[in-house]
Amino acid sequence: MKIIQEAAELQKLALSYKRTGKTIALVPTMGYLHAGHASLIDIARQRADVVIVSIFVNPTQFGPNEDLDKYPRDFEHDRELCAAHGADIIYAPTPGGMYAADASVEIVENHLSKVLCGKTRPIHFKGVCTVVAKLFNLTLPDVAVFGEKDAQQLLIIRRMVRDLNFPVEIVAAPLVRQEDGLALSSRNRYLSCDEKARALVLSRALFAARKAIEANGIEAVDGVIEAMKVEITNAGGRIDYVEARDTANLDAPTAATKEILLALAVYFGTTRLIDNQIIGLN
Ligand code: PAF
Repeated sequence: MKIIQEAAELQKLALSYKRTGKTIALVPTMGYLHAGHASLIDIARQRADVVIVSIFVNPTQFGPNEDLDKYPRDFEHDRELCAAHGADIIYAPTPGGMYAADASVEIVENHLSKVLCGKTRPIHFKGVCTVVAKLFNLTLPDVAVFGEKDAQQLLIIRRMVRDLNFPVEIVAAPLVRQEDGLALSSRNRYLSCDEKARALVLSRALFAARKAIEANGIEAVDGVIEAMKVEITNAGGRIDYVEARDTANLDAPTAATKEILLALAVYFGTTRLIDNQIIGLN
């Protein structure tokens, strides 16, 4: 497994793979890898000849009061995980290597990014789209794998690929949970034992909501969301949002909605957790 820091070296190597007819899969990450990331690498491994994992805590997707400085990092652990799951290349640039000091071009998605996480993190998806577009240009992937845990991010990346004609297939990987239901996240390490126990309310409430919506359809959604908010607040969570959206456009669901994204962002202490369920409607 190669470890590359230089953008030009990575792009040259990717080009040489393409010229010899090899397919490339990209797994973009911010490191501090866990079993959820490992599942993305496993999917990538099945989909292409060459698997590139990028590890980069992207500063442009963090707001001024967010956790950029304390975001967990452990390169040695990440290196071992990537090797164990058959990655061929880790791309681990420095912030200076990723962005020119006078960089002045960004990618802005103007609809899907205005709701859910985009409301409280207004610059987040601009940073995500811009860095992912750069990673696509550096790694020239046939396939890129993103987790369904970041469901809004996945929809926005699909939209970017569609609207800007990136020749990349976006593959969605199912959200991975601990046995107790907590969605895996690098940010779980910020949680105290007590907060971790309280945070189990999120998956519990989402699973119950899923059952109720599957049984009773779209009419059940408002009541289900109110019940979730009460349950989460009673467990000590501070709600950023709990919302249902149509996966086609992230607008509010209507009678024509075929699939709902039931998504939430909730603080336990200072840690903001996200989780979701994607629910088909008949
Ligand atoms: O999902 C993430 O870890 C990040 O948002 C991504 C896609 C690697 C871009 O920095």
